[in-house]
Amino acid sequence: MADEPLVLGIETSCDETGVGIVRGQTLLVDTVASSVDEHARFGGVVPEVASRAHLEAMVPTIERACRDAGVALRDLDAIAVTSGPGLAGSLLVGVAAAKALAVALDKPIYGVNHLASHVAVDIVEHGPLPEPTMALLVSGGHSSLLLVPDVTDDVRSMGSTMDDAAGEAFDKVARVLGLPFPGGPHIDRAAREGDPVAIDFPRALTTGRDMERHRFDFSFSGLKTAVARWVEQRHRAGEPVPVADVAASFQEAVVDVLTRKALLACKDNDVDHLLIGGGVAANSRLRTLAEQRCAKAGIILRVPRPALCTDNGAMVAALGAQMVAKGREPSALALPTDSSMPVELVQS
Ligand code: KG4
Ligand code: ZN
Repeated sequence: MADEPLVLGIETSCDETGVGIVRGQTLLVDTVASSVDEHARFGGVVPEVASRAHLEAMVPTIERACRDAGVALRDLDAIAVTSGPGLAGSLLVGVAAAKALAVALDKPIYGVNHLASHVAVDIVEHGPLPEPTMALLVSGGHSSLLLVPDVTDDVRSMGSTMDDAAGEAFDKVARVLGLPFPGGPHIDRAAREGDPVAIDFPRALTTGRDMERHRFDFSFSGLKTAVARWVEQRHRAGEPVPVADVAASFQEAVVDVLTRKALLACKDNDVDHLLIGGGVAANSRLRTLAEQRCAKAGIILRVPRPALCTDNGAMVAALGAQMVAKGREPSALALPTDSSMPVELVQS
């Protein structure tokens, strides 16, 4: 049915092999095989290892998704795939698989932007996206504020991180504190026992000229260094490190800046819906503070459930289904991957 397209989405931009199937705005299945355990001992994602894991996981993950959804490949209306941004080798595996499916099944293919997909996924959770929506995307690879008049072809960057992504800062600080990779969930947990005002860590680009020039940009590398120095001084003085207090104070600095700038972007652009996505959106303090600040400002907050915030195939299928429903032209079969695909480019 033209208004209820059945779309399979493939996501391989980082270390998750995600395959999702969506019918219109309904999520049928979201299957994810992650290679995160293989990267843990390196303290970060190793591109070569991720590519190989995608290659091994791809066919079984597609088969499992179809089986669990009760969908036959021939019934699909289109294939959607992340064509960028992300790790070059990982993207190639996903796009090659999507092309093979498109050729074998004689179906249209949509190469889509990973960031727009993070926004579109909330359609299967909370219904149609208000146009425009403001989106704060925070993950291990990206931290962006996006104004989204139409997720299928009009996504505008308001600002982004100038150095580390928010999740990257969580992961690096976790390492300084001796917590495992990926560090975000561990900091989140440790912070619950800590005092968020115990240490006054810096909030970059929030005052004076910096704020004027970079109203909606972020910077987390100074904060990360400040935490490392603080911890180092403790070590040198032979004093114990209060892990919970450091985690809580660091986390507070990050989520304070993120929510402050996101709300400001809503206010400046007269937008009354804020969506938060990406792995860091699973952070409990970010969710609570965003709820409190949005309620106070009269802004409606949308945050997908954590499994849809981290990388997955459902988000790609969700965007693909919107593309088909809105009558957007498919991509060419020769579509490229683009590891640094600009956020404004929704489709390749
Ligand atoms: O979206 P995602 O799964 O993959 C990327 O595209 O990067 O995000 C992963 C990032 C990691 O940096 C991880 O530490 C962070 O999200 N993360 C969190 C939490 N859960 C995951 N950060 C803070 N608090 C959490 N609860
Ligand atoms: Zn992502």
